[in-house]
Amino acid sequence: MKPKLQVALDNTSLSDALEAIREIGDIIDVIEVGTILHVAEGLEPVRCLRALYPDKIILADIKGADAGSLLAKQCFGAGATWMTVICCAEIPTMKGMLDTAKSYGGEKDVQIELYGDWTWEHARSWKEAGLTQVVYHRSRDAQAAGKSWGRNDLEKIGELCNMGFDVTVTGGLTIEDIKLFKDYPIGCFIAGRSIRDAESPRGAAKAFKEEISKYWG
Ligand code: 5RP
Ligand code: MG
Repeated sequence: MKPKLQVALDNTSLSDALEAIREIGDIIDVIEVGTILHVAEGLEPVRCLRALYPDKIILADIKGADAGSLLAKQCFGAGATWMTVICCAEIPTMKGMLDTAKSYGGEKDVQIELYGDWTWEHARSWKEAGLTQVVYHRSRDAQAAGKSWGRNDLEKIGELCNMGFDVTVTGGLTIEDIKLFKDYPIGCFIAGRSIRDAESPRGAAKAFKEEISKYWG
């Protein structure tokens, strides 16, 4: 299946985020309320985006760490389709989110954000707990410190796919990076700055889609 394209709205105000999505919303598969936007505006961006895009997948990237079901009720209640949990959260927190997601029915789901030193034992325990989606993340700070995509990343992504996870890839992705992942059944690519800060965000979003189509037809 062809990977989806997700735009991360890591804007610092709701008005900026709405201005950004207005230009590209129709060609994007998943709209993310970025962690930075959540910190600035709470869950209001999720409510506004749901009102504007009733049929789109909307992700609340809160990177939750505790109080799983309480956070999930707020994210899903506001209209999110998916929400994120940080990989160092405990299994009961992840399960609390997932059980709440399933209680809403439909496509509601929880994605695990992979940062830092998670292990394969953790990955097996996520699977056993029923979680199916992971976000393989090169952090913004690691990227700023010079970390590029390498063989180690690709091997881990391949193993996560083999384990049956639906894998999303993100972290300063550029159009040129997409081909690095061509041998894997990636579920979704997230781009934030490469789309929002482009001279033509619409042109950039289309170029990402065309590049994805080249390798996953
Ligand atoms: C950072 C994030 C970002 O939303 C994600 O990395 C996509 O943004 P960008 O393409 O600008 O890196 O969750 O923690
Ligand atoms: Mg994000």
